[in-house]
Formats: sequence, C-alpha cells, structure tokens
Amino acid sequence: MLREGQNTVVLRADYQPPAYWIDSVDLTFDLDPQKTRVLNKMKLRRNAQVPAQPLRLDGEDLNLARVLVNGQGTSFKMENGKLVLENLPEGDAPFDLEIFTTCAPAKNTTLSGLYTSNDSFFTQCEAEGFRRITYFLDRPDVMATYTVTLRADKQKYPVMLSNGNLVAEGDLEDGRHFAKWEDPFKKPSYLFALVAGQLVAREQRITSRAGKEHLLQVYVRPGDLDKTEHAMNSLIKSVAWDEARFGLSLDLDRFMIVATSDFNMGAMENKGLNIFNTKYVLASQATATDMDFMNIESVVGHEYFHNWTGNRITCRDWFQLSLKEGLTVFRDQDFSMDLAGEASARAVKRIEDVRVLRTAQFPEDAGPMSHPVRPDQYLEINNFYTVTVYEKGAEVVRMQQTLVGRDGFRKGMDLYFQRHDGQAVTCDDFAQAIADANPGSQLAQNLDQFKRWYSQSGTPRVKAVGEWDAASGLYKLTLTQSCPATPGQPTKQPFVIPIAFGLVTRDGSELTSGMHVLTQESETLTFPGLQSEPVPSLLRGFSAPVILECNYTDEQLLTLLAHDSDPFNRWEAGQRLGLNRALAFLREPGLTRNDVRLDNAFLSAMQAVLRHPQLDAAFKDLVLTLPSETYIAEQLDVVDPQQIHAVREGMRDQLAVALRDDWEWAYEQNKDTGAYVPESKTAGQRSLAGLALMNLCIAARKQGDAVWPGKALQRFKDASNMTDRFNALSALVVSGHELAQQALDRFHAIFKHEALVIDKWFALQAGAPDRNGNILPIVKQLMQHPDFNVRNPNRARSLLFSYCAANPGAFHRADAAGYVFWSDRVIEIDGMNPQLAARLARALDRWKKLAEPQRSAAREAIARVAAKPDLSNDVREVVSRALED
Ligand code: TRP
Ligand code: ZN
Repeated sequence: MLREGQNTVVLRADYQPPAYWIDSVDLTFDLDPQKTRVLNKMKLRRNAQVPAQPLRLDGEDLNLARVLVNGQGTSFKMENGKLVLENLPEGDAPFDLEIFTTCAPAKNTTLSGLYTSNDSFFTQCEAEGFRRITYFLDRPDVMATYTVTLRADKQKYPVMLSNGNLVAEGDLEDGRHFAKWEDPFKKPSYLFALVAGQLVAREQRITSRAGKEHLLQVYVRPGDLDKTEHAMNSLIKSVAWDEARFGLSLDLDRFMIVATSDFNMGAMENKGLNIFNTKYVLASQATATDMDFMNIESVVGHEYFHNWTGNRITCRDWFQLSLKEGLTVFRDQDFSMDLAGEASARAVKRIEDVRVLRTAQFPEDAGPMSHPVRPDQYLEINNFYTVTVYEKGAEVVRMQQTLVGRDGFRKGMDLYFQRHDGQAVTCDDFAQAIADANPGSQLAQNLDQFKRWYSQSGTPRVKAVGEWDAASGLYKLTLTQSCPATPGQPTKQPFVIPIAFGLVTRDGSELTSGMHVLTQESETLTFPGLQSEPVPSLLRGFSAPVILECNYTDEQLLTLLAHDSDPFNRWEAGQRLGLNRALAFLREPGLTRNDVRLDNAFLSAMQAVLRHPQLDAAFKDLVLTLPSETYIAEQLDVVDPQQIHAVREGMRDQLAVALRDDWEWAYEQNKDTGAYVPESKTAGQRSLAGLALMNLCIAARKQGDAVWPGKALQRFKDASNMTDRFNALSALVVSGHELAQQALDRFHAIFKHEALVIDKWFALQAGAPDRNGNILPIVKQLMQHPDFNVRNPNRARSLLFSYCAANPGAFHRADAAGYVFWSDRVIEIDGMNPQLAARLARALDRWKKLAEPQRSAAREAIARVAAKPDLSNDVREVVSRALED
C-alpha cells in the first residue's frame, strides 16, 4: 500500500498560525460508493499576521480533477501530497477557491474520511480525516461556516444528514434526490460530518430550561429502533445536566446521533451530528449488560458535552487535545456520578474510574509511549488519543476543581467561555481562566507549578512516613514526592499535589481530616495532642493521580478497610491487603497455583465486607475483586505474566473455597432484582450475584461438586436480562467447567443476529483463563469462524485485543507463539486500518519488564513488525518507540 502524507515528527514548538483563513465552505457531494464526487467552493483570505506565502492544502487518497481561483483555471503543484498554489491574488481581499475531487468510499478500509458501512455512507474526520474528503487547511485553528449539499440515489440512500439545519430537500432526475444543510456555527474541519443511507430515527422534542425547543434524534438501521430508548434518555439527561451544572444550553434546533457498526473509536462529537459506534447506542435488556447501559450513558454524555468543551471552544493545535478531551472526560465522569445518586454509588463510580487510570494509564506513563498530557511531539496524532490525554487529563482538571472548590470551578468555566467562546485555544488558556476566576486560591498561587501536570510525563510517587512520639502525643507525617524519568524527560520538577487526608484511631473513629497541598519535594505535617498513634488515611477519593507509597501494616489496613469514612480508601485498603499478599507469593520461588494459601486475617476481613449489613452490593463487588494481573505486574520490576496469573488464580480459588457459604448467602441475597431497570442499585446487586456465582463455580470445580455449575447453566438459560445471562455464562467459562461449551454454543445460536452480543461471545473465549496454553489455539480457531471479520473493529477488538491486550496469562507464552500471532495480526491489520493496527501494536508496550524467555521473544516480534517495509506512520511510531532505549 502506498503511504501518503507526512512521515516526519511534528513538534509543538513549531506551531505557526495558518497563512490563510477559510471563512466559508460550500460542499456538494454526489455520493457513490465506488466514486464519490466532491465539489468544494471556499472563500479564503490571507492571514495578514503571517508573511505572504503559498497556500498548501492537505489532501490524502484524492483524485484531483479541477482547481479554479475566482472562477479561473490556475497553476498548481503537488508537494509531499499537498496541493500547493503559488499564484494567488495579492493583498488581503477574500478570494474564491473551487476544487473538484473524487474519492472511493467503498474501498476506504481506514474508517477515516468518507467510507461505507452496511451500504450507508459515514464520515470520521477527527483528527485528520477531512483531507481524505477534499483538499483543505485540515487543522483545528481554521474555522469556517459550512453549507453542504448531498445528492444520491433516493432508494438506496433515503436519509441524508450533515451538520446544522436542513434548509432544502427535493427530488432530482434519475431517481436521485438532494438535501441541503447549513451549519450556523463556525467549526474546524474535524467536526464536519455526513451520513447517508437507510436509517430510521427515534425522535424526541424537548424544551430546555431556557425555554427553547429542540428536536433530538437517534438514527439507527431499521430493526434497531427498539434499542435506542436508553441512548435517547441519556441524551435528554445530558442536556438537562449541562444546563443545571454549568449553565450551558443546547445551541442547535436539532441534535442528531447516528450509529454505525464500523467505527475506530467510541463515538465522535461532530457538530449537531454525533456519530457513534453501535456499541455505545444500542441496548435492550436482552442484549446489553449493566455495564453496556452505563457506558452508553457516559459516552452519550461525553459527546454531548463536547458541544461546548471542544466545539464552541476548540483546540488551537492537536497538542492541545486534552483541552477538550481531559475536560470532557471530567465532565462525563461528574455527570455519571451525579446520576448514580447517593454517596456509595458515587464512590463506586470514582473507584471504577481510578481502576481504569491505574490499570491503563499508569502503565502507559511508565512505558515507551509515555507522554505528557500535552504532548511535545508526534509522528501520528491518532496515536495520542490515549488514556494519558483522556483520563490523566481528566484528573488534571479534577485537581483544578479540588484546588478552587466546586463553585470556584463553575466560576472558572464561566470565565473560560466569556473569554474564549468561538476560539481555538490552548491548555494554558484553560488553566489561566480557572485560576483568574479564583484569585487567592491554591491554584492561582501555584499556577505555573501546577501546569507541570501538563508538561511533565510519568506518574509521580508520594512517599508517606509517619512518626509517633507517645511521650508528647505528637504525630508527624512526612510526605516526599518524586517522579521517575520518562522518554525525553530525565529529571522532573516537583508537582502541586492535593492530598485529601484523615487521621483515624485504631478502633476507627476519625480524629481529623483536611486537604494538604504538597508543593515542595518534601514536607512534614505535625499533629500534636493525640492520645495514641493514628492511622493515616491519605489521598482520599484519589485526590491526585499519583502512586502513594506508605508502609502500612496489615493491622492499619484492616482498620481502614473496616472503618475509614472515605469509601475510596476503604476499598483501597482491601486492594493493598490483596496486593501485598500477591507480591509475597510472587517472591516465593516455584510456587504453584495450588500452593497459594491465604491467611485467616485476610479471609475474614473479606468475609466481613461480603456479609456487611450496611455496605452496598456494588461496593462489596469491588472490594471482593482482587487487583488485576496488569495492576500486580505494574508493581514489579521483572514480570512473569504466567506466574502472576497462577498466583492470582490461586488466591481466587482460595477466596472461593474459604468463603463458599458466604458466596452462597450473597448469591441468594442478590440474585433477584425484580423487573430489569438499568440503574446503579440493582446493577450492583446483579454484579455481586455474578461474582458470587463465579466463585461458587470455582469452588465447585475445586471440590468436584456439580450442583453450582448446574445452577449456573440453569441461570444462563432462564435469565431475563443479558447481565445475569452473561454472568452465568462467564461463571461456567471462567471456572473451566465442561458445561461451558454447551452454554457457549447455545448463546451463539440465540444471538447469532446480534453483532454486539456475538462480540461478547468472542471476547469471553479469548479472555478466558489459560489452561496449559489452550487459549491461543481457541483464538486461532475462532479466526476461522464465519462470524469473524478482521475488518470490523468491534469484532477485531473482541477477539484479538481480548487475547493480546487483556489476557496476559494466555498471551505471554514461553514458546513465543502469542507474540508471533500478534505480529502477524498487526501487519495484517495495518494493511487496511492503521489506527486499529497501532492500538493492537501497543499490546507489547511493556516488553522490557518481561522475564526471559518472554523478553527476548517479545523484542524479536516487535523487531519483525518494525522491519516491515511500508508500515503506516501509526504502527511505525509505536514499534520504533518500543525498541528505543
Ligand atoms: N473525539 C472523539 C471522542 O470523543 C474521539 C474519536 C472518535 C476519535 N473517533 C476518532 C479520535 C477517530 C481519533 C480518531 O472522544
Ligand atoms: Zn472526547
């Protein structure tokens, strides 16, 4: 495949304003899957602030037919894929530029630009896909108004959508028709969208707080309409929440969501026309789990919130991506938390978000792709839609709120919109607005230092050491911060770290609590007049994205687990207890799964949580779930993934067997949640019942009893919702029971026409615990299944990513077969979809930590990919960074 476009590194420091502005764009599409014709009429003018220079327009995979300047033919040349116009009218007067190109949507397997999926047309322009539709200044600081005319066969493409308002439509000759759309807002090209095809919509009219009427629409393929209610409800809640929390109203008469089953990411916030992966739209109780319902709510919220944080105020350049993504993730997290309701459900949401950060972002920040929240360079911007930019970026926004207070943050947001509405700005502009609206706040006082969170990569560590002087009743707590070297950043300066804390007595009562903002490398807090040595509860609510190192004794952790008033740290204490045990087992040479013996202190603490009369089911489920293999691996310098797997499985076996009666009790208590409603309280009960069933099946396997597997199969058959059904199926598959195959076959037969459910079916098998290397052969066999299609990203993720990226115990085989398989798939996928291939390529990010023989085998596999000629920039950047030292 011929690769076009830049293949050199882009530097943040090289930012230059555009040499031209594009004020308006009038696009006419003659849509045809094989050859779509695009007429692009623009009004441009020189940017007087920049020295006169030729116009260089981005373009990729386009066939150029005509270029007219003010209606006249003109000379042009091509340079590195760019269309260069040198003989443009002099002076500052606006001029017309007309460009006529064609492209081939049906052949576009990249899912960037204009492509077809199930015989419909879709676009994906972020970050640099618009240049695959027409020649343009495809950069976010060039903002134009768009008029779009779509023309296509009326029968094949009855619905034709673009951004903004429909201003005209009608029939044409030869069975074709047209629709003309006008977007009243200026926007960067990455927010352009069009959709055409056979679609149906759920519609809802709403009146905003401000009294304005809006039409909300959710478009899907015919037959999927009954699965759109939850997405619509989520959208309605999003509109109301943004008005209530931030005073931000919907600025469009019409707001559309369209679902497609071929999509590289979750969803896209195109102005007024969000395009979604079906996974984040379609849900019914029969096909979607509680987690699916929750994800839909948060992704619908996320894309809707982008309308203000991203679209009304956008990014000056792609290095500022976290300006919109970090802020919008923070907003969607807060939205979901508010919808969750009371304190316990809010804490559960926070724990889940922190779990993502620690199992995905911390490893990223410690590996070869480590980059600041505001990166300094990239080869391919698509590689920087990362957990660092999104989730760590959200933590950086959250800390700003922590430092100015919730009301202060609202004031800061108001000032941000007052100053920058309609502009393309930087992360600095955002932090400045929050600080300026809160003079005297801890943020304003330390703004420059705080902004190191944007510029310095790596996860900071905070070491806490307590000193107790019984004679004087003085407790001293010394906090010391450091941050390891990361690629390109050998040394770091101290961060501003808000540390929410409390001191708790041995029997669990709270002595004091507060917030300490750590700015120096080391600071000592003193607490005089105490009766006895307190237990410090630090970093409550996970108040900063750092690793807290504190040499807690078991006794202290048991105190926190039983009594801490902060639910996050209560959970955290349980995780530390589990983690310390896992690490101790890993230090024992030659320990096997069956040798793992958990102590009574740990088992009875877990039992007490499980049996606790007040704690919520969702919280119990989180405490009773051991730290993940990935999280355990992150604590070690040398990683043997198979040994970690064996140890964690051994611990789980023990928890299952030792607490067997408690699991049975928990299952009986939680299994009936009545008529299915996707809300947090009963969802928590369903998940605890699912965990209990899993443990009962594991215990049954250990003890050779057939009762619980039989019950799980029955549950699988009778379940009235996908959550219970899938949990029962998982219990059989994960415990490795012989009934599993029968259930899997039946599951496939029932749901063979539900693509999103079949994705779950693939993912469950590829992610199942490895038994003597059995998973890779299963994955290979599933690749031959008629339902497998590597071109469909959801399906590829469900099988290949579930194995390579989410099943370390099965993937990191001593015989290197997992790595060879991985390199074959990366190369295969790179030939059609570089974005997807680059994400799979990241599965071996942490190869340097692997023990031998895996380490050498992994390096060889990466080198094999790197040696391939014609790699995309996307994959090349990932593998070459992995091989750097
Ligand atoms: N901006 C989208 C979001 O909310 C992300 C996105 C969707 C994206 N599709 C993409 C990013 C394709 C890169 C490429 O969060
Ligand atoms: Zn986003």
